[in-house]
Amino acid sequence: MHFEKKNILDMTSLSVDEITMILDTADSMKEISQRSVKKVPTLRGKTVVLFFYEPSTRTRTSFDIAAKRLSADSLSISASSSSMVKGETLIDTARNLEAMNPDVIVIRHSSAGAPHMLARMIRPSIINAGDGMHAHPTQSLLDLMTVRENKGEVNGLRIAIIGDISHSRVARSNCIGFTKMGAEVVIAGPQTMIPKGIETLGVSVALNVEDAICDADVIMMLRIQKERQKSFLFPSEREYARVYGLSNKRLESAKDEVLIMHPGPINRGVEITPEVADGPYSIILDQVTNGVAVRMALLYLVAGGTRNADTD
Ligand code: CP
Repeated sequence: MHFEKKNILDMTSLSVDEITMILDTADSMKEISQRSVKKVPTLRGKTVVLFFYEPSTRTRTSFDIAAKRLSADSLSISASSSSMVKGETLIDTARNLEAMNPDVIVIRHSSAGAPHMLARMIRPSIINAGDGMHAHPTQSLLDLMTVRENKGEVNGLRIAIIGDISHSRVARSNCIGFTKMGAEVVIAGPQTMIPKGIETLGVSVALNVEDAICDADVIMMLRIQKERQKSFLFPSEREYARVYGLSNKRLESAKDEVLIMHPGPINRGVEITPEVADGPYSIILDQVTNGVAVRMALLYLVAGGTRNADTD
């Protein structure tokens, strides 16, 4: 099977077969990171630009490591160190980067749709590393990989996503990704943080956290994204932790073999206690490890792998 996508923009535009191919490729890429010499020549001669307008630890680092493990040349640009601080527009910046002939541009931007706009206007492959509150497809793919690895398959599982759904591109991408792969997704959180019409993504909304987690195979906790909130949407962090946070006490009502996930960064003691984040059910650092494998797979598939030239 050829991978026909030139760009990775969101989970909506990936088919079940394409997601499965990405996850299978990531499974085989993972072994490279376990070798003593963690490098293969697969993308030698390719150039990957990491263009991050918002802060990132996991996504930027794992794309950088992924590119280097495949022998691509990678370089990183942030908004504060680019000529955008002098007033250059996003599209002018991207066209100037294009003139240097990179093969892939990985972009994180605060505006929803920025990666889609670049994909229409410039030649290199575009990978969305998070656009505003819209989408974070590579996070969803690494979450799918981590669940599939730990549970054997995604189909038929019940996934509870808890917290600030409204401001979370991870939640949106995972609602689409997990339902597409056959899981049942239930969400819960403060009413002020549940977007109207979220059910159109094929998910259900639980009345409270207990209802969401009691039958869940996987519980994914989300950070409150204060940087995207125009006003405070809950009384206090202490109150939030008490009503919506995941503690060992609250976990008593969950299944014995439940898995705990979080995309990071974690606000310890707010949406999740340290005991749960670091506890026996947590696969949070597995998510980070698999982030490298998924991003290696994506770079390989869009830049060097099986894609036919000139397809989109
Ligand atoms: N999960 C995630 O996107 O983390 P970073 O913001 O650190 O990249």
